[in-house]
Formats: sequence, C-alpha cells, structure tokens
Amino acid sequence: IFICKGSIFLQYMKVQDRHFETIWLKSGDPETIQVIDQRFLPFDFKIEDIATAEDMYTAIREMHVRGAPLIGIAGAFGLYLALLNIADHDEVDSRVRKAAVMLKSARPTAVNLAWAVDRVLLEVEKAGNIEEKKEKALETARQIIDEERISCLKIGEYGLKIIEEISRSKRGQTVNILTHCNAGWLACIDYGTATAPVYLAHDRGIKVHVVVDETRPRNQGARLTCWELQQHGVPYTLIVDNAGGHMMQRNMIDLVIVGSDRVSPYGDVVNKIGTYLKALAARDNHIPFYAALPSSSIDWNLQEGAYETPIEERDGHEVRHMEGMVNECYTDMLIVSENTPVANFGFDITPARLVTGLITEKGIAGANYKSIMKLFPEKNKNLFP
Ligand code: MRU
Repeated sequence: IFICKGSIFLQYMKVQDRHFETIWLKSGDPETIQVIDQRFLPFDFKIEDIATAEDMYTAIREMHVRGAPLIGIAGAFGLYLALLNIADHDEVDSRVRKAAVMLKSARPTAVNLAWAVDRVLLEVEKAGNIEEKKEKALETARQIIDEERISCLKIGEYGLKIIEEISRSKRGQTVNILTHCNAGWLACIDYGTATAPVYLAHDRGIKVHVVVDETRPRNQGARLTCWELQQHGVPYTLIVDNAGGHMMQRNMIDLVIVGSDRVSPYGDVVNKIGTYLKALAARDNHIPFYAALPSSSIDWNLQEGAYETPIEERDGHEVRHMEGMVNECYTDMLIVSENTPVANFGFDITPARLVTGLITEKGIAGANYKSIMKLFPEKNKNLFP
C-alpha cells in the first residue's frame, strides 16, 4: 500500500509478488527512465533503460511500451529527456518543440500521446531558464502518472458496479467478461482500464472469468493480458480472435469491456483492430459492451463518427510472421509465403450506437454527447461563460 496526495492505493501490479509500475525514473539516476520492455513478455521480464528522447521515440514506435495511457506518459518523459540533452541554452525552446513533434509522431492513433506531450511542452515553454524547464517537465510527467493511476482506480470502482449487478442477476454465478487486446496495468501505470473493474471484483470475492481475445497480429491479449491476469490470480481463458461471436451466441459471455485509444465526445470508440466486430456481435446477442477509459483518451476535437482519427498502419512483417518460443528459444517465424501482400491496420472505430456506455474516472456515461458532457461540463463548447 502507498499513499499519494492523501489517498490510499493498493498496489495491484505485482510481478511475482513485487510491485512494479510500467515506467519510472531510475533510482539514483534522475537522467534515466526505466520501462518494462513488453516485447519479451510473457517469456522474459526485462527492464530497459532509456536516456534520450530518440530512444523513447523508438520504444514507443516499436512497442517496447504500448497502450494509450502509457505511451502518453512515455512521451511526457521523452520530452524531459530531450531537455536533459540540450546543451545550447539559446535554442532550448525550438529544440524542445522539435523533440515534441518527433515524439508525437511515434504512434498516431492514441490521442494520449499528443495530449501528454503537449501538456509538458506548455509547462516547459512557460518556465524560465533551462533548469526550471527540466524541473517542470519532470514534475508534469509525474503529475500525469498520478492522475492516470487515480483515474484507473476510479474506473475500476465505477465498472465494479456493472459487474456486481450482473453477478447479482446471476445469483452469484461466475460473470464471464470478454476483453480485447491489453487494456490492463501494462497499458497504464497500475490497475488498467478495462481490467480495473475485473481486479476489483475479483478482490471483493465476486466470481469473474475473463475471456481474452488473442488480438492478432501483436497478440497483446494472448501475451500480455493473460500474463497479467495470471499474476493476479484471476481465472481466464484465451480464445482466437474469431471465437467471440460464437461464445456470445452460446451464452458464454455476460459482458464485454475494452479499453480505448481515442473516443469522440459523441461516444465513438477507437480501439485495437477487431473491437468493432466484437461490438457488432455483442449487439446482435444483447450483451452489454462498455469501453473503459480515462478522460485523457477523449479527443474533444473529434466530430461525430470519429472518422478523422488517424488509423495506424504497421509493417506487414507483423502479419507475415509470428513470434514465440521454439525449443526454449525466442523465435520470429514466417507463417505465409514471403512476399504475400498484407494490410496491417492497427485500430478500428466502433460507432457510438454499438456502445452501451463509457466507464470513466468521473462515472459511467452513455455513448452520446449529452451524457458525456454531463460528466465533463467544462468541455461543453455550447455553454456560454
Ligand atoms: O497497439 P497497442 O498495444 O498500443 O494497443 C492498445 C490498445 O488498443 C488498448 O486497448 C488501448 O490502448 C487502451 S489501453 C488502456
């Protein structure tokens, strides 16, 4: 247990009983950021040292760190690292702006990255000399960490009520929750977004069972969500991406909770590719479909439908190959003929009409403008001062 601004937090993210966060300032070396390098999980638990903004860009781009809230925080720390490496005091603002552009370009879809980098940049530009700018960058990155941690816990508390209700209606029988990709603690700082209600429910003795989509091509569900749930002792079953619809038809799913990379103020949800198909199947089978997200994932400038969202397209290598263990060796394996043309879209958009609700740190909103603005009245452009 630790205490932050008067609140008491349980430390959820435990790796073999030791508490970890996903990113932190290296102890005894304030010029280095450390992250869990997620590329090697679940086979190997590796920690990476990152000392330059360029290396942070690579870590985000190549998905050593991933998940919307976490890449936001990584970007914020990236800007701090950029400041540490600027020797010429006269050029500090223009160099730091360049670093911000670079960091934001690492991945286009999750709005958290640009949101966090711009927030740090604003504070840095307001600060006086370079020492103050460094301090401000670090302080802001740490503030974002605290806020995201609190948001995830709150999401857990609000989402718990949904699980409790289903558990009551099933007279205490197991609640089966389907999730897609990894919207767990590995994607955030602690608790996760989609997983936070699950962890809280499990810890309160409610019977839960998570059905985990493998999430091709990067297999975040298979490799990361399963590992997280296992560390926490939550029962789970891994399924191939195409099995969810069948399980919904057979009454094997009571609830779907996913995370989100960008949400429109109208309730459209951008999330890992394949989310839309799960929402369609959930609607066809009258199963509640929720997205869980901190407000840092809401893009207040998006129009209805969220169609302006840049959808990341990644290298075809990720589709043509699979990674795994062969005879205890970490192996990258070709699974199709070498020059097979592939398309590798990273995300899709689930229209608001398919979303039952949004679980946020401020409460649960319906997936519509009015309901979202009720939770975030300060964002309502239609309000007169
Ligand atoms: O490509 P990734 O692994 O960064 O995608 C992650 C997701 O799609 C998550 O569902 C999303 O970021 C929400 S994380 C709380």
